[in-house]
Amino acid sequence: MPHASIIGTGSSTPDRVLSNKDLEVIVDTSDEWITRRTGIKERRISSKDGSENTTELATRASLKAMEMAGVSPKGLDMIVAGTVTPDRQFPSAACMVQKALNADNAVAFDVSAGCSGFLYALSVVHNAIQCGTCKTALVLGVERLSSILNWQDRGTCVLLGDGAGAVVVTSVNDECGILSNHLRSNGTLWELLYASYGSSYTPEILQGLDIKPFYINMAGNRLFKRAVVYLSSIATEAMRHNSLSSKDIGLLVPHQANIRIIKAMAKSLNIPMEKVYTNIHRYGNTSSASIPLALDEANREGLLIKGAHVLLVSFGAGLTWASSILKWAI
Ligand code: ACO
Repeated sequence: MPHASIIGTGSSTPDRVLSNKDLEVIVDTSDEWITRRTGIKERRISSKDGSENTTELATRASLKAMEMAGVSPKGLDMIVAGTVTPDRQFPSAACMVQKALNADNAVAFDVSAGCSGFLYALSVVHNAIQCGTCKTALVLGVERLSSILNWQDRGTCVLLGDGAGAVVVTSVNDECGILSNHLRSNGTLWELLYASYGSSYTPEILQGLDIKPFYINMAGNRLFKRAVVYLSSIATEAMRHNSLSSKDIGLLVPHQANIRIIKAMAKSLNIPMEKVYTNIHRYGNTSSASIPLALDEANREGLLIKGAHVLLVSFGAGLTWASSILKWAI
């Protein structure tokens, strides 16, 4: 059976930085509260002119990943995007990216799994490569959460941001690359995090943002507790499945939702924070984009060593949670 390995990573974020200080004039909050409770200092917000919409951010991230991989658009058999904020309800974000890349040999579709969208998409591609139905694929995590935020709700608008990450995955003969994927869902808890239909509020300072007729509702404190338990259990399951202990993990790249969640999980897994990659202070929670964005930054910073075990773990709306273990191969 063929194996599947990541051979290129890329990412893209909007230019506009919205700092905690900027948020102080939008909602009743403070830089001190956001930093202490979440670890976030700033996030990126897409421009209103469409030049940083979901398709654009995803396409830019894809081009960088494909350049690193040395793969041309015609060489892609599959494009799978994890997203809850495609530019249109349909067609999929993946089909829009396919057009932008001119990747006309690929089958393209989206996966909706909240913040776990990227790891769900990676699992789909892993399975397709192992079955032999696909040789080379693009896996995306992309979000423009600013378009579904209620900027009057300080419990959510301070947490989230926009961005995109991409990886190119290809079939290899060596036993390296993606070693496992574990996916879980619990729909009975969907009301802890969901999008409502209705008009959200946009403050003057952000007027012109392309706000969609949905906005995020979240029971943050209840989610926090579930997140630590679910993330730790699925990471443990992944390590056991591969006969690895926490000492064998070279780098943990978790979903960037809250630095306190990340620290609690790392502590319960007995993984020191020096082995945990975080960029939440710069981007906040970018949902499906958070893991591929962090993975690309870690890769370009030289933190991913060939042969090292990399643990990816996510948690999000659904509820969904997922983990993946990679034996880094580039
Ligand atoms: N600024 C100032 N005060 C605030 C803010 C804010 N931005 N937000 C909430 N508060 C207040 C609350 O009103 C509350 O005040 P009260 O005590 O007077 O009632 C107080 O702060 C404490 O609120 P909590 O909700 O208990 O704060 P908590 O420590 O839990 O932190 C947070 C809130 C950051 C949302 C945290 O619960 C969290 O990170 N939850 C998990 C989020 C997550 O993982 N989401 C899943 C993925 S997201 C996705 O899928 C898109």
